Amino acid sequence: MEWSQKWFEDYKGTIRAGVSLKALSHFRIGGPAALFLEPWAEEDAALAIRVCLEHSLPFKVLGAGSNLLIPDDGVEAAVFHFPHWNRVVRDGDQLIVQAGKSLPSLIRMAKECGLSGFETLCGIPAHVGGAIAMNAGTKEGEIFDRLVSLRVIDEHGELRELMRSELQPRYRDGGLGDGLITSVTFQLEPCAEDEIFERMRSLLKKRTQTQPVTECSVGCIFKNPEGDSAGRLIQAAGMKGERIGDIEVSTKHANFFLNLGAGSHAQVQELIGRVRDRVMAHSGTHLELEVRQWCQA
Ligand code: FAD
Ligand code: EPU
Repeated sequence: MEWSQKWFEDYKGTIRAGVSLKALSHFRIGGPAALFLEPWAEEDAALAIRVCLEHSLPFKVLGAGSNLLIPDDGVEAAVFHFPHWNRVVRDGDQLIVQAGKSLPSLIRMAKECGLSGFETLCGIPAHVGGAIAMNAGTKEGEIFDRLVSLRVIDEHGELRELMRSELQPRYRDGGLGDGLITSVTFQLEPCAEDEIFERMRSLLKKRTQTQPVTECSVGCIFKNPEGDSAGRLIQAAGMKGERIGDIEVSTKHANFFLNLGAGSHAQVQELIGRVRDRVMAHSGTHLELEVRQWCQA
């Protein structure tokens, strides 16, 4: 990818070429980003996006990397990342949270403040921006249930504030397209800390019993078809424990693929194809991907 440092001379933040994304992906799979930017402030991110648009550089946003499939050869794009955008401001029962804040640490913080509403999301290893982009959730609730408003840099590089009523989230999709979320305001409810803790404990216990939470994965690979569970369908097709190279269909929950160590993106793609074919042959259901795929170019 052709680019020049000069184009970014007014931008404040770090900018590096050829940064490996492997350690930043929960799957521990993925090659380098042609450009890797960690902007200081949202205005710097907006400016850098306008530079990308002006010079036709493709760009992508990386959160905690817990729902992403990244090619082995990396991506010919500018990848934005902001783990240090992690400030939280309390205003009564509302929390204003920067997009790089880790969701598990936000949930713990809310509990310690005696604010309830995030318990249903415990165990989801996201950044707040990634959780909003995906409308992360469980059967008990979704992150949009608590959303008041958010700030986003739109596809033209303009910073906008959007209210909940202007947004149309769906199952596992916040509906924000290519927008870069910079901060989010949530409405919570006062509650005794031990009550919140008890709800979190019981949900985490259930998750640990049913999902391979300590293994290397990107959560559920496929969306649940209406009224059914992809995990149940994959198990019924006899695919639990199916393995290609170092990528395996979890024996604990069949909608999770595990990287046993040296798994590759190519192996993940092959296993996705094999599982889809067998489920189609067994039950006639087409499984749609839940994880987001980055293409190389
Ligand atoms: P990433 O994986 O980094 O990115 C996902 C998408 O969000 C990409 O398209 C990316 O470009 C976009 N994105 C990231 N940050 C931003 C931003 N600031 N602005 C705009 N776009 C952005 N998910 C659930 O919904 N429910 C669950 O119960 C659940 N359980 C899981 C359990 C495990 C063990 C694992 C590994 C994953 C699980 N997941 C679950 C999947 C995953 O955690 C969620 O999809 C999460 O929301 C992804 O957030 P992230 O920050 O990791 O995003
Ligand atoms: N099941 C099987 N075999 C399996 C897995 C599940 O038969 O290998 C059966 C279970 O016995 C149960 C049914 O399928 O009867 C549903 O299973 P579970 O309760 O584990 O939930 P799920 O539908 O598989 C969904 C979300 C999870 C979320 C849980 C809990 C999707 C694709 N998955 O899983 O989200 O954590 O509910 O709310 O919507 C994710 O999105 O990455 C994710 C992990």
